[in-house]
Amino acid sequence: MRNTKWLSKSEIKEMLDYTLSDEEIDEAKTHLLTPVFERVFADSVGTGTPYFKVRGDERNIMDCTSQAWVLALGHGAIDPIYAAFYQAEKFSHHQYGFLDETRAKLASKIASIAPGKLLGGKVAFNNMGGSATNEAAIRLAYVSQKRNQKQQIVVFSRAYHGSSLAMTGATQYIRIATRYRSFGLDRWERAFFPYCYRCPWNYNNGLGGKKDKKCKLECLNLFQNYVEETSNQEVAAVLLEPMQGAGGQIPAPVEWLQGLKEICSKNKIQIIFDEFQTGFGRTGHMFATDYYNDIGKSDVAPDMMTLAKAAGGGLPLGILLASPDYKQFSEAEEHSTFSSTPVPMAACLVVLEIMEKHKIPENARKMGNLITKRVLELKETYPVIGDVRGPGLFIGVELIKDPKTREPYTELAEAMKKDCWNHGIYFQGMMPIIKPSGEMVRNVIKIKPPLIINEEEADIICERFEATLKSCLNDLNKN
Ligand SMILES: Cc1ncc(COP(=O)(O)O)c(C=O)c1O
Repeated sequence: MRNTKWLSKSEIKEMLDYTLSDEEIDEAKTHLLTPVFERVFADSVGTGTPYFKVRGDERNIMDCTSQAWVLALGHGAIDPIYAAFYQAEKFSHHQYGFLDETRAKLASKIASIAPGKLLGGKVAFNNMGGSATNEAAIRLAYVSQKRNQKQQIVVFSRAYHGSSLAMTGATQYIRIATRYRSFGLDRWERAFFPYCYRCPWNYNNGLGGKKDKKCKLECLNLFQNYVEETSNQEVAAVLLEPMQGAGGQIPAPVEWLQGLKEICSKNKIQIIFDEFQTGFGRTGHMFATDYYNDIGKSDVAPDMMTLAKAAGGGLPLGILLASPDYKQFSEAEEHSTFSSTPVPMAACLVVLEIMEKHKIPENARKMGNLITKRVLELKETYPVIGDVRGPGLFIGVELIKDPKTREPYTELAEAMKKDCWNHGIYFQGMMPIIKPSGEMVRNVIKIKPPLIINEEEADIICERFEATLKSCLNDLNKN
């Protein structure tokens, strides 16, 4: 590496390596406008592992969150960071209007791996992550209409699309979480998202996100009626996660996506898939769209797809991918000061190379199958395990009080999120759903570790999951 100019390398390292006292940490907390967890993140373990450390704890904690589902290649994954470092040493910033070779390489790479009708498509990058990318997709949906006449965007129940002022309106509103309402609320319309395990029409089976044998896709009819009869005929686009993450790890049945595509194309409605969580290998395929195309044997690819999370190997990158027939934005419609930095794009190129060369999606599929099978076996011993949904390492375990009533067991999920630390594992749950009565439903525990885990680590996840479940159940049964 080149020599530094104003400060020596050891001065810089000293600044970054100096350890704060507990008092200094507490003092710093008083200056933060955003709440933080009780534990302080201390370190990643190794060079691409599912483990991390928190301050004051020597143990390696097994991470079932990949830190907001970002670290697909694991903690400390050094290759993308090396690429970023190498790129940054050459140059790290220029104006958005300049193309550089790293952005050029990445644009062509993404276009070449895009699923179905998106293959060979067009891309826009930003370094602001998910909300900004979804907003870019909505802007593209608007400007691509002939007379820009339709303004409404259909989103779905339990959706999560970000927390910017516009995207708060697309996300299912959570009264206890935000104390303000989004801008542009009049633009969003909310439709019903299929939820097979709690299907209002066929409340019988639906296990693993599969539809019931008696299913006649009533939820699709509902959508069709909504679009064709109830909505105000102003729908420009639908925005959806084909597999909902925050809403409870709920995959849409493939037939519903196929039907949605038919209805939308008949009514000239653009489809945007938000694949922030499912993109880049998590479902056992590069994209959830690939998974659906594979199992459904027909192309459900949307008109646009938005990607972020795992893309930059831990560095911030948002990608809007549109089908080849879209025209470009104007300069004013899509740009930002810092989004041209090639640093996360260099990291993304390396992430993609590793995913392909080392078959990371396939590994996610295998490890996901192992964990899902083991957790399903646990159902015999623990009837509080209601539904176990995948695919791949996009796993949600829905906890219930009684297999007959399927009453959500929120208390158990909340207890597990606290107690998991005692067992050396870190879980997170779904976003809260607040009923009109004020009751909170939050009964899904997610198992979404880095995609590089091996069999031994998959076993450790299952063992620690069971240990956490068992000790929480014992405690709850005592009270
Ligand atoms: C499906 C989905 N969409 C959008 C977002 C928003 O992304 P960001 O927090 O980067 O704005 C998230 C973040 O968790 C997400 O999971």
